[in-house]
Amino acid sequence: MSVQGCYNFHDFRRLAKRRLPKPIFDYIDGGADDEATYRRNTSSFESCDLVPNVLRGVKEVDMSVTVMGQKLAMPFYCSPTALQRLFHHQGERAVAAAAGKFGTMFGVSSLGTVSLEEARRISNGPQVYQFYFHKDRGLNREMMARAKTAGIEVMMLTVDSITGGNRERDKRTGFSIPFRLNLTGLMQFAMRPAWGINYVTHESFKLPQLDNHVDMGGGAVSISRYFTEMLDPALDWDDVAAMVREWGGQFCLKGIMSVADAKKAVEIGCTGIVLSNHGGRQLDGSRSAFDQLAEIVDAVGDRIDVIMDGGIQRGTHVLKALSLGAKAVGVGRYYLFPLAAAGQAGVERALDLMRIEIERDMRLMGCTSVSQLGRGNLRFR
Ligand SMILES: Cc1cc2nc3c(=O)[nH]c(=O)nc-3n(C[C@H](O)[C@H](O)[C@H](O)COP(=O)(O)O)c2cc1C
Repeated sequence: MSVQGCYNFHDFRRLAKRRLPKPIFDYIDGGADDEATYRRNTSSFESCDLVPNVLRGVKEVDMSVTVMGQKLAMPFYCSPTALQRLFHHQGERAVAAAAGKFGTMFGVSSLGTVSLEEARRISNGPQVYQFYFHKDRGLNREMMARAKTAGIEVMMLTVDSITGGNRERDKRTGFSIPFRLNLTGLMQFAMRPAWGINYVTHESFKLPQLDNHVDMGGGAVSISRYFTEMLDPALDWDDVAAMVREWGGQFCLKGIMSVADAKKAVEIGCTGIVLSNHGGRQLDGSRSAFDQLAEIVDAVGDRIDVIMDGGIQRGTHVLKALSLGAKAVGVGRYYLFPLAAAGQAGVERALDLMRIEIERDMRLMGCTSVSQLGRGNLRFR
């Protein structure tokens, strides 16, 4: 199967599975514990149905949205994800270029493998910097100043990862950064020699956002130790309020799920919240963002931009989220499998397929703009 033969999420996932060593595929594909939240993220969209209107004159369709002051040509963006050059040597460069080409936003992770400055030069679309809060306040200030100088439009603080999730697939293969594979994991790498050749013939693996602070080479601080030793589990609302003031621009919290927290985010001056359970990779058994969306939109939707991510694989999933009041949605694995399958060409094809689906679905719904989507378009079973 080639990338041109991929028509949906599942096709790309299959192609990525063929190309990637199993430990890496499982790192992307997996969730926490029993992966119940991971599964619910997508199946939650099936608890309701779209109710179309017809004969509305839908020749021209405008799917653009404005979220946190950023105009996006499409109502979905590439959510920040870690370690992208491990999935394909083009990594974040491919995602930045594809997002820029399609006029949408993308995020660079604190655990990104290309610097936020380089990504900024590649795309002229809005860029998010995904931040983890460190014990070292000086380091936090330095990173924010760096993001500001680079011209990052949106600061996104991830708040659902105060400790790492229990990813048992990674434990079984020994997946960690730096690599400490067990025998099974090593054999699985040996079964994908093309990936290995590609990996060693391109620039060496780096985490440029953390280069000066985390020693990847000597293994002094692995990623799991980064979470347990460098991130601050004492992080509270006062710390975040200070960060919001210091940033002085578009600031959103990723991983808000309760109404109380959504209200707090408004109080401290955030301009956006992303309802997210980190793609089911953190607290298994927690609610899906889509299930929780209406409650949060009703509580704060008139005061802050409510965004969601998790489980989105189809244009109709995007339309359902927008109908409930989300301003935009983020996708993760939806672009990561295409990246792993074919680099930039894969990401571009995936974004294009989603764009085409949304346009077609809006026509079929009788909508010419996103503002025409509302609760009236939706019935829960
Ligand atoms: C492989 C992988 C790595 C991720 N890395 C990060 C990260 O570094 N920071 C972050 O805030 N979220 C991270 N996420 C979560 C995504 O930003 C997003 O919330 C999630 O993937 C959405 O779910 P979906 O994959 O079902 O679309 C990661 C997700 C995946 C699958």
